[in-house]
Amino acid sequence: MTSSIQITVPQVPENVPFERLVEILLAAFAFQDDIVDPPSSAKSVTVSELQWRFARDTLFLATDDHGMVVGQVWIEDVGKDAYLYKLSVDPAIKGAGIGKSLVEAACDFARKRDKEKVRLHVRVELVDNIAFFRSRGFEIAGEGVHDGYDRTTFWKMARDLTVS
Ligand SMILES: CC(C)(COP(=O)(O)OP(=O)(O)OC[C@H]1O[C@@H](n2cnc3c(N)ncnc32)[C@H](O)[C@@H]1OP(=O)(O)O)[C@@H](O)C(=O)NCCC(=O)NCCS
Repeated sequence: MTSSIQITVPQVPENVPFERLVEILLAAFAFQDDIVDPPSSAKSVTVSELQWRFARDTLFLATDDHGMVVGQVWIEDVGKDAYLYKLSVDPAIKGAGIGKSLVEAACDFARKRDKEKVRLHVRVELVDNIAFFRSRGFEIAGEGVHDGYDRTTFWKMARDLTVS
């Protein structure tokens, strides 16, 4: 199935299906509703948010052989490192290797730009996601606390691009 998935990096907003990306984010992150505290920021995503992010960051799209966008990941340039966020795959086809392909494409992109690490945040409750990122070479590198909380609410994970 993954052999028919294309990963592309659109260069102009006219080539970005923003409404479909919002749809994927809302569907993919819905499972977290009763799990994470505080709620995920993905729940409030809008087309206009993705539009300003597109002007600043790099978007990777996963597209199936019918031309349907089925996944996305975003990379922000944060100096010597890159920050990966909004990784999401249409829940109807999760587990088919698309998330893995998106992460690898994003890491390749960052490596070619001489970034030292790809960093990301993952909520402490999401043990399966932590396992997924570990399987992609990320390790826990720190902890974080959301405003108003007195406990660790997310892990900072990082993949060292200089060793892979
Ligand atoms: C996390 C996510 C992006 C993974 O994408 P995917 O296409 O389903 O994952 P893949 O098929 O590429 O899986 C790659 C490997 O990770 C494993 N894996 C994927 N998701 C997993 C999960 N939630 N728990 C445990 N293992 C998982 C797969 O079994 C596979 O293992 P294998 O290589 O041994 O076969 C996707 O499930 C998703 O959109 N989740 C909701 C949004 C989200 O939580 N994003 C991350 C925010 S931190």
